[in-house]
Amino acid sequence: MKAIPILDLGPEVENLWPEISAALERVIRSGQFILGPETKNFEKEAGEWLGAKHAIGVNSGTDALVIGLRALGIGPGDEVITTPFSFFATAESISNVGAKPVFVDVELDSMNINADLIEAAITERTKAIMPVHLFGRACAMTTITDLAKKHDLKIIEDCAQSFGSTYEPTCGTANPALVGKQTGTIGDVGCFSFFPTKNLGCYGDGGLITTDSDEVADLCRMLRAHGSKKKYMNEILGYNSRLDSVQAAILRVKLPHIKAYNEARRKIAQNYRDLLAGVEGVVTPEVVPGHVFHQYTVRITKGDRDAVQSKLQEMGVSSMLYYPVPQDRLPVYLGQYPTYETNEVLSRQVLSLPIWPQLDYETQKVVADAVKRALA
Ligand SMILES: Cc1ncc(COP(=O)(O)O)c(C=O)c1O
Repeated sequence: MKAIPILDLGPEVENLWPEISAALERVIRSGQFILGPETKNFEKEAGEWLGAKHAIGVNSGTDALVIGLRALGIGPGDEVITTPFSFFATAESISNVGAKPVFVDVELDSMNINADLIEAAITERTKAIMPVHLFGRACAMTTITDLAKKHDLKIIEDCAQSFGSTYEPTCGTANPALVGKQTGTIGDVGCFSFFPTKNLGCYGDGGLITTDSDEVADLCRMLRAHGSKKKYMNEILGYNSRLDSVQAAILRVKLPHIKAYNEARRKIAQNYRDLLAGVEGVVTPEVVPGHVFHQYTVRITKGDRDAVQSKLQEMGVSSMLYYPVPQDRLPVYLGQYPTYETNEVLSRQVLSLPIWPQLDYETQKVVADAVKRALA
């Protein structure tokens, strides 16, 4: 049997190659590689697609977070509340601007920050909340925006995994003004990653900041260009963090397809859920409205998750652990944080299965059968 990868970018490249090669040729022949018309056009198109007044292309999702935090005035002495269960770039960005990440435990089902626990973590130093829409599922944004309002806090959304995901709450009392909104347009600032594996990915590093605030947008544009509005007139300390024209041109080819790609991911998620229904020892994620399944992450609740992963590998099925060590327990933060119970459970149980928009049903059946056999 042919090995099944966790992600296959091949079919997408194949399908889009005529447009991609034309875009590459256009940029290379234009000689405009940094912040040229391609980047400007992509910013306009992405901003319109998302429903954000400003969209600012940067070097990576990590830089989007760092620049977004700085533009919101967050720095040394400040605290930012976030989830421990995320990729390290989330907390790293907070630490890198001199602030302190304050972790709040997560929910078992959504795997997102437990918004009901946030208020207890707010102190005089708290300046912002950084929800991460993990694996493409929106956080409980009504509670988060209510808390931000009540305590005068900023919201900076980590949307690295959630391009195209919308807030569609299934329970509780939702703020109707937020329902159906794109993640990244709900808080003060949204931060996207275009890392190649992301739902909307380029062929290198890339990122985007969204905001409706003219002031924040101006600051972000300055910060990404060495702190200058005008060339050689540097006003503040910034970064060299521009979305280059080659990546912008590739993203312009892919943006019109993202809706269909995300719908395909949702269909795949539902197939997996059906194929694995009733299997003891595996809990599959609910296909809630708005979820775009950047990863398809199940929980292995019977036996040893690592052993299940090894068995899958022996059967030629790749899987990944997002995340085996939560941010609070990474060596960089050793001894600085208490234990977060659900976060610990997730780090022991999560297992991400193969998903990409063109993954066919037959292959999904092979994956599901392998999971059943690995658990047997
Ligand atoms: C949740 C989260 N935040 C931030 C990032 C950072 O994005 P990038 O790799 O583009 O710097 C990533 C992705 O890699 C991520 O998954």
